[in-house]
Amino acid sequence: MTAPLRDIVPPDDAEAQAAFDDLIASDSRIEPRDWMPAAYRKTLIRQISQHAHSEIIGMQPEGNWISRAPSLKRKAILMAKVQDEAGHGLYLYSAAQTLGITRDEMTEQLIAGRARYSSIFNYPTPSWADMGAIGWLVDGAAICNQVPLCRASYGPYGRAMVRICKEESFHQRQGFEILLTLMQGTPAQREMAQDAVNRWYWPSLMMFGPPDDASPNSAQSTAWKIKRFSNDELRQRFIGMLVPQAEVLGVTLPDPELRWIEEEQRWHTSEIDWTEFHEVLAGRGPMNAVRLQNRRDAHENGAWVREAAAEYARKQAARVREVA
Ligand SMILES: [Fe+2]
Ligand SMILES: [Fe+2]
Repeated sequence: MTAPLRDIVPPDDAEAQAAFDDLIASDSRIEPRDWMPAAYRKTLIRQISQHAHSEIIGMQPEGNWISRAPSLKRKAILMAKVQDEAGHGLYLYSAAQTLGITRDEMTEQLIAGRARYSSIFNYPTPSWADMGAIGWLVDGAAICNQVPLCRASYGPYGRAMVRICKEESFHQRQGFEILLTLMQGTPAQREMAQDAVNRWYWPSLMMFGPPDDASPNSAQSTAWKIKRFSNDELRQRFIGMLVPQAEVLGVTLPDPELRWIEEEQRWHTSEIDWTEFHEVLAGRGPMNAVRLQNRRDAHENGAWVREAAAEYARKQAARVREVA
């Protein structure tokens, strides 16, 4: 375990604050040993740990289909994708640990239901086409959100995002390809694909968070160069990416009002149902309780692995001491 880094330099040190401001202004990276304002550290711990939890909880909706994938090839691809998400969670937990929180603390917050994770994973996956819609829409939205995070001012976070984004683009392509195959299939398969797109489209737009005028923390995160684009800017970019891809697929995006407004250079959409977003966020989504219970069970069932690993490490260390 590393010592908390927060006390290395007193937080009221004006010189340290000025050095921090300079690093931010010059687009340099803040590293774990640099002084940083307590609020910057707290914001990053919250954001990175929520992001890590999202990757880990996000394994469940697709994990649901590993044993029922339609072919060996699909099974192998899906397993690789779900394993990637586990890896993303691990990079991000490690990045958060450099800020002085322990992995145990973060796990405890998650399984006690005190931590947030992306609401999108609280929706069920009743059909195989959901694997396509998740890859195309959910991983697609994740890419739009995460590519700018590769330049986040906190070094360990930005560097973790570089690798994550490379893997996300594979996830998006495999989802697109699942939908494309279904759309070239029987009428029942096409209907299944369209139904999945209908269910995932709106929740994927909600992944960018509330509209800019209702997003109170965005300004500070932008000033700290953690966030580079506003929620609405990213949502617009995502829609612009989806529209031509939906055409290639032959699916309809379920918004009759969706159209490009040339004079304003933006996509017009129907009103997003933010009541649903807040309900799911508050823990009242269709799968919130199941997702958390599964995570809690996995943690408890894995206790013996953690104990065995700790015991093994203890024995190895004792052996090294003996030899020395
Ligand atoms: Fe991921
Ligand atoms: Fe992904």
